[in-house]
Amino acid sequence: NTPTGLYLTDNIEARKKYRPVAPYAHKGTQGHAVIIGGSYGKIGAVCLSAKAALKSGCGLVTAYLPKCGYTIIQSYFPEAMALTNGEEYIEAISFDVTPKAIGLGPGIGQHPDTQQAIYNFLKNNHTPLVIDADALNILAQHKEWLSLLPENTILTPHPKEMERLIGSWQNDFERIAMMKAFSHAHNIILVAKDAHTMIVEGNTVFVNPTGNAALATGGTGDVLTGIITGLLAQGYPPADAAIFGVYLHGHTADIASGKTSIQAFTASDCIDNIGKSYLAIE
Ligand code: APR
Ligand code: MG
Repeated sequence: NTPTGLYLTDNIEARKKYRPVAPYAHKGTQGHAVIIGGSYGKIGAVCLSAKAALKSGCGLVTAYLPKCGYTIIQSYFPEAMALTNGEEYIEAISFDVTPKAIGLGPGIGQHPDTQQAIYNFLKNNHTPLVIDADALNILAQHKEWLSLLPENTILTPHPKEMERLIGSWQNDFERIAMMKAFSHAHNIILVAKDAHTMIVEGNTVFVNPTGNAALATGGTGDVLTGIITGLLAQGYPPADAAIFGVYLHGHTADIASGKTSIQAFTASDCIDNIGKSYLAIE
């Protein structure tokens, strides 16, 4: 438990959070992550997120997506398991696997049936949770659903999604105060994505120094959701999963964009280079 205050996630802090894999680990002990998302035209988001979860080190990953994405994800990476519901968007969320962590939202869209499915899911879910993208936009339209989230659920809004959730701010001092109040009121962890992403847990704020403008490309947010969900599945405490996950994501971009260039870097390059970042951190 970090005392209240403002921190910088330097490499010393990041290494403190990092958890090496035990020599006798097996896929059962490395944790199972489920990524729920995708809709017609946005299947890529759930593909990127699920693959990033696996690359972060979890033992198993299942993507829960509409049927139109089934063949796509199975060919994109064969390590993924897939469960489907609905044709072009998710109509209901129920599965009999028991993951250690769930990521909800990449590419999920906002169809009314999907919104209802999310409500029914949240009412019954007790598994540690990461919420992103349109699942955040849906939450912002139904703030009363925030009370259904398990304690320490991680929300990963970009600035527009943040504004929909907490309202608008005049300056960064006000923004930070509003994020702390929101985190406190709902018992959740906010990952405020930006050039310098902040992780807010009550009055404790970690500012992330890694990452660069190479990440300003579609899909990198989905990759981050996958990484954090994968770390949660491996047993990282929620705040550590958020802080270390954001560090790893940015560090990967810092390492890889030196080879790809800032311009040519893609979300897939981010996934492909997570390993280099781990090797540098270890
Ligand atoms: N420097 C450092 N990091 C950056 C920079 C930068 N200049 N620009 C972007 N990033 C990082 C952010 O911190 C965040 O981790 O890249 C990621 C971008 O995430 P998103 O804004 O969620 O973008 P994206 O992945 O394209 O989202 C896909 O989800 O939220 C929806 O509407 C969004 O349709 C879009 C989809
Ligand atoms: Mg996003």
